[in-house]
Amino acid sequence: MTWRQNRCCSSPRISRNPRTELYRSLPVNTSLFDFESLFTWLTETGHEAWSDQLQLACHHAIDVNSHGNFPDWHQCWKDLPDIDSRIHARNDGRVALDGQISAEVKSQLRSNLMKFRPWRKGPFDLFGIDIDTEWRSDWKWNRLRDHVELRDRSVLDVGCGNGYFGWQMLAAGATRIIGLDPFLLYVMQHEVIRKYVEAAPNYVLPLGDDCLPERLHAFDVTVSMGVLYHRTSPIEHLQSLYNSLKRHGQLVVETLVIDTRDEQLLMPEGRYAKMRNVWFIPSVDMLTKWLRRTGFQDVKVVDVTRTTTSEQRRTEWMTFESLPDFLDPADSSKTVEGHPAPVRAMLTAQRK
Ligand SMILES: C[S@@+](CC[C@H](N)C(=O)[O-])C[C@H]1O[C@@H](n2cnc3c(N)ncnc32)[C@H](O)[C@@H]1O
Repeated sequence: MTWRQNRCCSSPRISRNPRTELYRSLPVNTSLFDFESLFTWLTETGHEAWSDQLQLACHHAIDVNSHGNFPDWHQCWKDLPDIDSRIHARNDGRVALDGQISAEVKSQLRSNLMKFRPWRKGPFDLFGIDIDTEWRSDWKWNRLRDHVELRDRSVLDVGCGNGYFGWQMLAAGATRIIGLDPFLLYVMQHEVIRKYVEAAPNYVLPLGDDCLPERLHAFDVTVSMGVLYHRTSPIEHLQSLYNSLKRHGQLVVETLVIDTRDEQLLMPEGRYAKMRNVWFIPSVDMLTKWLRRTGFQDVKVVDVTRTTTSEQRRTEWMTFESLPDFLDPADSSKTVEGHPAPVRAMLTAQRK
């Protein structure tokens, strides 16, 4: 992998069509993990110290992860064919790369993409290859899209997975999305797409929320979806989200909740839905209180939905166990451990 130095953020290789929100680039990107335009932007907007910290942290994260499957993923990424392409968010929820390819190239590309399994967040349509991901993340996006103002906004997406929501937010008018996800496979999936739209301002850095400094105040919108219950200290997580925002910036937080009206909290003794790293699942009222105590105002509950086996399920792009395997076969209102089955809430709030 290489880092490209001294690149300008307004690369001439990309054009943004403001009418259709398409991004297009040719030739394809030849440099993996090229975040230079992001670091330039951070420096130019007064966040030089954080930019320097992020560069070091990214180098470190990539170095320590450059073993195991990484050499294979890197080779597959290099082997991706050159295709004149453009990206857009389609009405059917798919993030799509369009371009002309032969049947032979399509078949080679498909087997390359399979090597980046499991694909959990999507769906994507990459040159006619339908990546039917474990999650219908487009359903989550539909719950969110009308409750967040994205036009001309900078966005931080903590725990962004492969950056699916970043493409949706870009199409909805956001100017720049910085996604954080410490799991390198998901970062690689994003790199597969970035290979074709390198200069689009949707980044996924291989880092967790611990890279957020105490007083960042950099973003108009901060999003944390599916992360809170994985944190041993949910309050500290909310504090770091608060501190990432500019004054009056908007927070979107989405998490597992327990579906009761009171201020309650489930701390599973062992696993929850077979997940080992679930620490705290609040009720909506408890989460509302946490947000207020952390300093947020104007807290709104915009959605509460029970996750169904249509929204989260095994597909040929994610062949491991999925929600149907996590529920009690005799009573689908419970997990296999006897906890309430997954219900998720989405809340918005504003920094003072
Ligand atoms: C349940 S997934 C949610 C992905 C996406 N935000 C969504 O809502 O579909 C949780 C993601 O958070 C990432 N993650 C776990 N710990 C994290 C941390 N400390 N900081 C940031 N991301 C983290 C995981 O790698 C995973 O991709």
